[in-house]
Amino acid sequence: MMFARLVILVVSSMSFLHRFHVSACDTTCADKPVFTPSSLVVKFGDPTSANCSVCELACVNNQYGVESPAGVTRKDGTTISWTVDSLTEWSVSSLCFYSDDAGHQCCTFLPVTVYQPPQKVSISVVNLTGPMLEGRQYTLQCTVEHVAPVKDLRVTFYRGQTALGQPQSINSTGTKPVTQIFSVDISPGRGEDGAQYWCEAKLELGPEGPKLPPVETSQNITATVHYQPHLEGSSHPDTIRVREGELLRLNCSAVANPPPTYTWTYPSGRREASHADVLTINSTTVSDEGKFTCSVVNLLGNVTKEFDVELQANPTGIIIGVVVVVVFVIVASGLVAYYCYRQKRMGGSNTLHSAVPTED
Ligand SMILES: *[C@@H]1O[C@H](CO)[C@@H](O)[C@H](O)[C@H]1NC(C)=O
Ligand SMILES: *[C@@H]1O[C@H](CO)[C@@H](O)[C@H](O)[C@H]1NC(C)=O
Ligand SMILES: *[C@@H]1O[C@H](CO)[C@@H](O)[C@H](O)[C@H]1NC(C)=O
Ligand SMILES: *[C@@H]1O[C@H](CO)[C@@H](O)[C@H](O)[C@H]1NC(C)=O
Ligand SMILES: *[C@@H]1O[C@H](CO)[C@@H](O)[C@H](O)[C@H]1NC(C)=O
Ligand SMILES: *[C@@H]1O[C@H](CO)[C@@H](O)[C@H](O)[C@H]1NC(C)=O
Ligand SMILES: *[C@@H]1O[C@H](CO)[C@@H](O)[C@H](O)[C@H]1NC(C)=O
Repeated sequence: MMFARLVILVVSSMSFLHRFHVSACDTTCADKPVFTPSSLVVKFGDPTSANCSVCELACVNNQYGVESPAGVTRKDGTTISWTVDSLTEWSVSSLCFYSDDAGHQCCTFLPVTVYQPPQKVSISVVNLTGPMLEGRQYTLQCTVEHVAPVKDLRVTFYRGQTALGQPQSINSTGTKPVTQIFSVDISPGRGEDGAQYWCEAKLELGPEGPKLPPVETSQNITATVHYQPHLEGSSHPDTIRVREGELLRLNCSAVANPPPTYTWTYPSGRREASHADVLTINSTTVSDEGKFTCSVVNLLGNVTKEFDVELQANPTGIIIGVVVVVVFVIVASGLVAYYCYRQKRMGGSNTLHSAVPTED
């Protein structure tokens, strides 16, 4: 990995190394030049600097220095300082070198990462012209404009605050800013109706990079998801007991987008379309006993729910009946008692008349 990086740096440094025979410059010698810091991460246009100390043991006079396509170098003893006021090159890896008595060259590279935070990040849904449909697959695209280096770019898609995934990062050694499109597939459900989708582009530049990695976020796009009706309660038939003359309320509440229409079928077979999810009958009659059906429809589908309505006898009827029976029993028993009394009294007086002699 490190070797590959060095090779890449050598290649990118070729243009300014015409004075050197790179193959002859030893990067593995024992007494290598030392850069401080050993690598740089610089924002395009910013100033930067590094120092290189060479030949602690033996240097041939003046046969040392720093080579770079940008900036200025200054020698102070065996330390060479390299400074750039404004870094405006995309490939600036610098080389520190010295030659010993035998003409043997010893080198160290200073890897410099020049970065450019994304200039613009935007999100879109591929080929979407209307609302999304539940269960279908859609492709979200995140376009990141003018960013470098693209290999350090990490894109994350979000729904609200939930990360949806990170698409594969780009395997490129390019150092110049590019515009790159990332995508992820989604299958929104009805719970995603109204959800906000967005993406975030972050440059992960490692420990040498800025403490807060450069981040740019896209605008939000709000998903409209159309789906067929789903009942909010159970779809099993409900058995509802109600007394004759009382209020009957049947609840067929459903969720759907676009909003559904409800068609109610009465036990009599009568149908009634409405936008209300609850059917109310103020005063039930015998004709309301039986099966009610509610059918919920929108352009994506339909669902039905059945209600079994059982009518119970009216309690005031029972009370009146009981009162009538009680009154009847009281009246009847009174009549019987009176009759018995009359019979008894009439029979008794006859006996009395015959048994007791008159005073005459
Ligand atoms: C380079 O050395 C000079 C003087 O020794 C020092 O002032 C400066 O901070 C050093 N720069 C870096 C990047 O270490
Ligand atoms: C989007 O539509 C264009 C043309 O209308 C078509 O060429 C392309 O394949 C579509 N892309 C996707 C991902 O369906
Ligand atoms: C996008 O929506 C999220 C919540 O879903 C919110 O936190 C964020 O600030 C919004 N971003 C923009 C650019 O409006
Ligand atoms: C990235 O590059 C490495 C080495 O060059 C390779 O092994 C890997 O398969 C590449 N990945 C992609 C996604 O291209
Ligand atoms: C109907 O049922 C739903 C869910 O079960 C409930 O949210 C709603 O309040 C009910 N409506 C009435 C009028 O009772
Ligand atoms: C049921 O009663 C309510 C008020 O209690 C009234 O507004 C409504 O019109 C009545 N419905 C019918 C069908 O009589
Ligand atoms: C309800 O859906 C079924 C299939 O699930 C279909 O046969 C029927 O025609 C639909 N009814 C209405 C009123 O759309």
